[in-house]
Amino acid sequence: MDAKVISTGTRYSSLPESYIRPESDRPRLSEVSTCDNVPVIDLGCPARASIIREIGHACASYGFFQVINHGVSKEMVERMFGVAREFFGLPVEEKMKLYSDDPSKTMRLSTSFNVNKEKVHNWRDYLRLHCYPLDKYVPEWPSNPPSFKEIASNYCKEVRELGYRLEELISESLNLEKDHIRNVLGEQGQHMAVNFYPACPEPELTYGLPAHTDPNTLTILLQDTQVAGLQVLKDGKWLAVNPIPDAYVINIGDQLQALSNGRYKSVWHRAVVNADRDRMSIPTFLCPADDALISPPKSLIEEGSKAVYRDFTYAEYYKKFWSQNLDQEHCLELFKNK
Ligand code: OGA
Ligand code: NI
Repeated sequence: MDAKVISTGTRYSSLPESYIRPESDRPRLSEVSTCDNVPVIDLGCPARASIIREIGHACASYGFFQVINHGVSKEMVERMFGVAREFFGLPVEEKMKLYSDDPSKTMRLSTSFNVNKEKVHNWRDYLRLHCYPLDKYVPEWPSNPPSFKEIASNYCKEVRELGYRLEELISESLNLEKDHIRNVLGEQGQHMAVNFYPACPEPELTYGLPAHTDPNTLTILLQDTQVAGLQVLKDGKWLAVNPIPDAYVINIGDQLQALSNGRYKSVWHRAVVNADRDRMSIPTFLCPADDALISPPKSLIEEGSKAVYRDFTYAEYYKKFWSQNLDQEHCLELFKNK
């Protein structure tokens, strides 16, 4: 079905039919409680061993955590949010110049999730950019607002550094060499999305993004500081992860689940929408190189057993992921060893 961007600047008074979920698949917002024990990890803490321990615990039992004192300056974050908001405030005709629903495009404005595959649309527009290496991709980024390229490229550099640091800590939390994960992943790709969820007339009937896990390695998510919307699945229940000031939410993705032989969980999460206010989020996705072979180290495989998942390249995984829709079988299941 043909979907169009919804960030038009005009409020919708009712939810268009193509966004309404069947009754069995609605967010049931009144049943969602706040996750009040989200692991918050202070990366500025001098006791590295304790950071590693906390990260290991968070990855194994939650699949996500928040970080503070992460090294990305507050000013940088504010500038990034500012220019992202400015972008979505542009006239629709201007934004539509960048529109595409082809997931293989390295720069595009799109809407919902995968409009050509899905039955029901999601209340989200998004700008998606490839970000590494910067000099290859920045020329194709939006030139309106004029400061977009400069602000977003500085932002990308800082977030990449944070990603590397987290990969080291996660490697060590699995009793691996500090650079193990980075070595397996090769020259890592980096993508950024700017998600814009306009105020929605009927948040009970739809999603910004329905339940999914992220197909990449690690997601570094900048949440709107004013409007909540991220929810994670913990022990079968949906919990709201409300924003805390100056923090990033870190999600373990499918590749780390495979690489850790299932010890660390690629967390199920979703975004719900708000009746009164627009919400923005800016995730950075770190991804293995296309030809990286995703394979767990021997030390994480029990003696005499097989790895949980067969080895695969990231290129193979990514292709499979985008050929599916979010309501189909989980992509990682298709790679399970029998
Ligand atoms: C995503 C995502 C959550 C959010 O873009 O993959 O999960 O809060 N976003 O917008
Ligand atoms: Ni996600």
